[in-house]
Amino acid sequence: MKTLKDLNIDNKKVIIRCDLNVPIEDNKILDNTRIIKSLKTINYALERASKVIIMSHLGRIKTPEDKAKNSLKIVASELSKELNKDVYFCTWEEDINKAIEDNKIVLLENTRFFDLDNKKESNCDLELSKYFASFGDVFINDAFGTAHRENASNVGISKFLDSCNGFLIEEEVNNLKKLDNPERPFTVIMGGKKVSDKIKLIDSLITKVDYLLIGGAMVYTFLKAEGKEIGKSFLEEDYIEYCKKLLNDYKDKIFLIDDNYVELDECISINDMTSDSVGFDIGIESVNKFNKIINKSKTIFFNGSLGYVEGGYTYGTKNILEALNKDKKTVVIGGGDTVSACNELLKDNNFVISTGGGASLEYLQGNKLPGIFEE
Ligand code: 3PG
Ligand code: MG
Repeated sequence: MKTLKDLNIDNKKVIIRCDLNVPIEDNKILDNTRIIKSLKTINYALERASKVIIMSHLGRIKTPEDKAKNSLKIVASELSKELNKDVYFCTWEEDINKAIEDNKIVLLENTRFFDLDNKKESNCDLELSKYFASFGDVFINDAFGTAHRENASNVGISKFLDSCNGFLIEEEVNNLKKLDNPERPFTVIMGGKKVSDKIKLIDSLITKVDYLLIGGAMVYTFLKAEGKEIGKSFLEEDYIEYCKKLLNDYKDKIFLIDDNYVELDECISINDMTSDSVGFDIGIESVNKFNKIINKSKTIFFNGSLGYVEGGYTYGTKNILEALNKDKKTVVIGGGDTVSACNELLKDNNFVISTGGGASLEYLQGNKLPGIFEE
């Protein structure tokens, strides 16, 4: 990876692409983690560069009406507060070069506003990339959460300027690398709704893991493959054969649930499921069984909720998170929804939490991320 030690930014106009795509509701930032995580590179640049120009996307822009609620203006105020310095917020209609001349730090408006013009940002349009590049002398991509996307503002622009990755991307990649060569036993806990969404991830991890613990709605397709009655629980018929083969090939590694919650206050054995039962969360015995494996593991990757958390079925996910937090082990939490569940259910934790849901999963599936620049 090309990092900041490979790029001279002294007295230059430095463009930094951050991922400041933070959750916003009623004009309030709900979680500023991505802003905080971006500060290290910005501060480094502020000490050396003549100008710092920051870019980011926010949300998705499909119609002109999407612009109002996806302006980076309130992010500029938050960033200014965290940096304890003035941050000039600049719209695309203003004289941008003058704004850069007059200010040390400029945050440009949402890059995805250009998606209204033939998806130019998201499709990595070359002219737009060149336009973005015209504002600076060098480019730092530090937007890990967007590293799996090839957009004009994170990848296209690097074709026109000397470029490297920032500290956040470097740190994120180093964290994920811990899973390439893990301290053992290495356990993956996987939940979420669909087996079909996870096949690439399972296939790339199964040979590396010592244990794979499966919960969430996806476990019912595995249970069905084992010949169990799953009632009206969520099932993907087309994936039963895949699950059968996996269970057969890796029978010593894969652990499924023994009981489940069919109501918020009713936990029953899988053997007692009837043709009408619907499973919503892993049960008490299953949590105990998973905990035994967790306790002897040294490295754990957790992806996907173990129950229907939005519906109040938090028992399994919460208890497993608590077990993971108990003693010293490397715990990596991956995937946007898992990170939100974790922040909601166990905010005070020692986990390695990625700022990039999709990006971290793509990386773990062995895919090359276009936003990570090779040397
Ligand atoms: C994210 O939050 O997943 C990243 O910021 C990328 O956003 P996107 O999924 O809208 O491309
Ligand atoms: Mg996303």
